[in-house]
Amino acid sequence: MIQTVRGTRDILPEDMPLWRRVEDVARESFRRYGYREIRTPIFEKTELFARGVGEATDIVHKEMYTFVDRARADSEGESLTLRPENTAPVVRAYIQHKIFADKSPGELTKLYYSGPMFRRERPQAGRYRQFYQIGAEVMGSSDDPAIEAEVIEMLDWFLKELKITNTTLLINSVGDPASRAAYLEKLREAIRPKLDKLCADCHHRYEANALRVFDCKVESCQPVIATLPVITDSLDEASLEHFEKFKAHLDARGVAYTVNPRMVRGLDYYTRTAFEIVGNDKLGAQNTLVGGGRYDGLSETLGGPPIKGFGFAFGLDRMVMALPDDEAERLRAADALDLFVVFLGAAARDRAFEDARKLREAGVAVAMEFEDRKMKKAMAAADKSRARFALIIGENEVASGKYGLKNLASGEQESLSLDEIIVKIATEPRSHRDKEKER
Ligand code: HAM
Repeated sequence: MIQTVRGTRDILPEDMPLWRRVEDVARESFRRYGYREIRTPIFEKTELFARGVGEATDIVHKEMYTFVDRARADSEGESLTLRPENTAPVVRAYIQHKIFADKSPGELTKLYYSGPMFRRERPQAGRYRQFYQIGAEVMGSSDDPAIEAEVIEMLDWFLKELKITNTTLLINSVGDPASRAAYLEKLREAIRPKLDKLCADCHHRYEANALRVFDCKVESCQPVIATLPVITDSLDEASLEHFEKFKAHLDARGVAYTVNPRMVRGLDYYTRTAFEIVGNDKLGAQNTLVGGGRYDGLSETLGGPPIKGFGFAFGLDRMVMALPDDEAERLRAADALDLFVVFLGAAARDRAFEDARKLREAGVAVAMEFEDRKMKKAMAAADKSRARFALIIGENEVASGKYGLKNLASGEQESLSLDEIIVKIATEPRSHRDKEKER
């Protein structure tokens, strides 16, 4: 039997209401805050990520799905990569389509995206090789920290709307490139005498970009990492001021945060503000829900004009896992069919087809079986369908035009005309919990 590839999975119908809810609330957040959607290709030139995300990052160094495209008569096969993230592609699109060109000074471009990303990480709960991200990027000529605070405020609303609580916002500043260079010198000096205590990957990081040592998850490296100087102590004046303003904007919005000076994020494009939102007890080890930050130099790295940028992405897989159990239950229940048609006898069957069509035209979600069955079997099928109601049509019902409508949760049954049924189903609350909410 052929099965899914390691680290990939099927999202089955019973989980889709949860996924759709997260997507819907995200889209609603983006609508309220003035973002527009963009879709970029699933694969890009490898160079985009090598330059954008950085050669020394785990993502580029170890985790990309890269392949050489078939050569053509006029060209050698080029190296392509399944996107491991979508900030570099969105900035590429922003440059390629000159979206920046017709902007007035100070005008921002706010874009969002949703789709699969690919990283060859070691699979475990909450970590997949094909996973899904929803993200947003704000680009333009301004690097006002108020832009950052507005993004965080939007995420705050988003999490509340999903009823995801007990999350922590971690913030840090990774400085500007000049202060980073000075800090990296300091960092290398501090690492050098302790190199023999670090893993092989950390040796590579030390050579290529010492900042990436903070990404190491190897247990035996942690005592050394804990002694290293932190970037926050080496910040330039402007970055410090920017960070202070960012914090003041969060305070003004009543958003709680924790400064984590060791959080440097696993991608090279960040400058100044970086943040993560780590999630609740339901997530286990892979508990980072959201990651983001400022990436002012990225456009130039990719050959574009100087553009300031700030954004984030969250893992949809993890956001779905973080939904509270009662919310997940409510969403699954609300996804139920409205009505299951049970018919008895040939005349009722024809009527059932006709009425099912009328109900569907009126917006009611209807399922039925096509086989004529005994009452007991047919009702068992209705129960199994998890529909809210069963519509029972027998010969008497065909003659009288009044049908039996059975509420499958309570067992109550009424005799109603088709029009009355349409009104009832359109107005009846979808689940017990919804009823409570409406009160
Ligand atoms: P990232 O921190 O690499 O940032 O990923 C963001 C989120 O994607 C993570 O916090 C996590 O929820 C989810 N994620 C990452 N890898 C996996 C995986 N293997 N399985 C499941 N979920 C995963 C970025 O990708 C940046 N592009 C974010 C950004 C946008 N920064 C600025 N703009």
